[in-house]
Amino acid sequence: MIVELTDQAALTSGSAFWKTTAAGDVPAITLTDGPHGVRLQSDAGDMLAGRPATCFPPAVASGSTWDPALLHRMGEALGDECRAMDVQVLLGPGINLKRTPLGGRNFEYFSEDPILSGVLATEWVRGLQSKGVGASLKHFAVNNQETDRMTVSAEVDERTLRELYLRAFQRVVTQAQPWTVMCAYNKVNGVYASQHHWLLTEVLRDEWGFEGLVVSDWGAVVDRVAALAAGLDLTMPGPDDAGDAVVAAAVRDGKLPAEVLETAVARIRAMVEKSAPATGPYDAEAHHALAREIAARAIVLLKNDDDILPLRTDGQSVAVLGEFARTPRYQGGGSSQITPTRLDDALTEITATTTAPVRFAPGYRTDSDAADETLIAEAVALAEGSDVAVVFVGTTRETEGADRADLDLPAAHLALIERVVAANPRTVVVLNNGAVVRTAPWDASVPGLVEAWLLGQAGGSAIADVLFGRVNPSGRLAETIPLKLSDHPSHLDFPGEAGFVRYGEGLHVGYRGFDAREQPVSYPFGFGLSYTTFSYGEATAVAGPDGVDVTVPVTNTGAREGREIVQVYVAKPGSRVRRAPRELKGFAPVDLAPGATAAVTVRIARDDLAYWDTRLGRWVVEDGDYEFAAGASSRDLRATATVTVAGSPDSRWPLAADSTVSEWMTDPRGAEVLREAFASGGDSPLVAAAGGDGEFELLGGMPLDRLALFPGSPFSVDTVAEMVKQVNA
Ligand code: BGC
Repeated sequence: MIVELTDQAALTSGSAFWKTTAAGDVPAITLTDGPHGVRLQSDAGDMLAGRPATCFPPAVASGSTWDPALLHRMGEALGDECRAMDVQVLLGPGINLKRTPLGGRNFEYFSEDPILSGVLATEWVRGLQSKGVGASLKHFAVNNQETDRMTVSAEVDERTLRELYLRAFQRVVTQAQPWTVMCAYNKVNGVYASQHHWLLTEVLRDEWGFEGLVVSDWGAVVDRVAALAAGLDLTMPGPDDAGDAVVAAAVRDGKLPAEVLETAVARIRAMVEKSAPATGPYDAEAHHALAREIAARAIVLLKNDDDILPLRTDGQSVAVLGEFARTPRYQGGGSSQITPTRLDDALTEITATTTAPVRFAPGYRTDSDAADETLIAEAVALAEGSDVAVVFVGTTRETEGADRADLDLPAAHLALIERVVAANPRTVVVLNNGAVVRTAPWDASVPGLVEAWLLGQAGGSAIADVLFGRVNPSGRLAETIPLKLSDHPSHLDFPGEAGFVRYGEGLHVGYRGFDAREQPVSYPFGFGLSYTTFSYGEATAVAGPDGVDVTVPVTNTGAREGREIVQVYVAKPGSRVRRAPRELKGFAPVDLAPGATAAVTVRIARDDLAYWDTRLGRWVVEDGDYEFAAGASSRDLRATATVTVAGSPDSRWPLAADSTVSEWMTDPRGAEVLREAFASGGDSPLVAAAGGDGEFELLGGMPLDRLALFPGSPFSVDTVAEMVKQVNA
């Protein structure tokens, strides 16, 4: 038992960069980054250099697998590495939505969609925590840009907040109970996330039932006392003796209730007690193999004209062009940077796979984005003399702390693609990037296009696996590739100014916005090709008390075994609230032998059909017909089934004296009461203006209590009060 106030205060801050404080009978534990590897600091002087650990694919890649089971295994493997390195909490997963493709940390996040992010992160957390290691779900919340990340206020309406930016957090918290949630640096609607009582206590704990501990992002706390009062338990890093003293004094002076501090301490104790002891070494070979499996599953085949891929392993000479083939670009910069246990490069793996000649030219330098004529000419010569050219290009800088300036590939890479395709039209482009790059217009001239993201330490072998068809690609885009930056829904409101960023596109994040504006894109959300093809039969949808089961037969119509990711998008025609044209609500990977058919069932939980009703202040499932469209991407819907879903009880919008005539008219009981009132109004001019046909169009926007004041109104302010009672009875 800790009794000393000073000990209690000390426990709520770290004792070092990666350690909690030991006090009384509570020992210290280690928390470290995260998320796609264990970055345990090796040298006290260098915050970023870690001891070697498996560098798994960053979330941009693991998110593109659409494979929850794979994420579970990745979580387990990370748990094993944490145990071997005596780490008790791993700082991940990062599940902020990719609001803008320019987001500097997009490579650390899964998707522009909250269901996809939430489902994958839930399995990651379950896998990790099954090993007795805690997760830290981050960054809570609305941390979607790096520009002014420690001060900016994300200005977002409540419905958008609930349905988009908080939804994945809600899912992971309610389904996987992460040991910790990490609060974000930024402000949310004017209040620092670290001091946001509504966010950290009312929503996270009271509504969602979070049982764990809230830890600050490193350096996010401005005011320790305000943060504790809001529901933050642990301030990192430490030590912060001065802050501890302020906390103790606040309790002594009655400014901070003693129970608040005691509760934070109890949560820290509970976390420490849950931690499992260190173990022996993990199986580095097996983890590398897993990293390779995930990486191969993450690759998205965007274009494959005339079946240029897979490459043949006999007799087809290959020009491998671009420095990234030899010097892999496999992770982004900042706190997630892992020191890999080993590093595969595509050039070595390609050379080892084929018996035909493989020739390499770097094509560009990695220290400059400007085109180098000599290097390009050398690459062009190799392309001309080879059966096929594979060009490795991508982004050169993506890091925590800075957003990107544009979506374009470096000039040197664009020049290389253009010149190589001109020399040899049989060209495949492999992209290595942590967030989408613009592929228009150059992709039109390239028959093969492979989105290979940042794939972690086994990316080189995974790329060879896909290029040669050892793995049939099944990755799908977890974010839209726009034709150009200015098409993006976030474009007009990013990155904000003067300390504020307005989330002006509201609910229409990512594909929701592109679809609502019927805009063409380069490659839509959910898209990805395979070396085989799939056909869909008729879909059926069955509604039950817990949700809707959508079943569709899927057939592998090609000659190779392959995996389809069946995606289900939901629409609610004629909804009483504004909605995106369609929203992903469920998905399922299915592996099929050539010619085989499987009936794939995607279960959509009833909660996932709910929208946040701002009038009622709660989640509501709207009554009526819903369309469930199954398909291969958000813009390739193959089979639709419609089913009636029973609405949430008591979800009528309340009518008040200042509700408008049209609000009264859209409510069946309201319309009845209002019609009666008009009918009793005789031949007054207002009744005549209402048209007498019951449409009330002219008066639609007028609140009843205001209408009552007009000369000739069929009712008085007193009658309106009576009508309100009647209608809400
Ligand atoms: C990042 C977190 C990270 C922490 C510790 C912060 O700058 O935002 O994601 O876990 O540092 O390195």
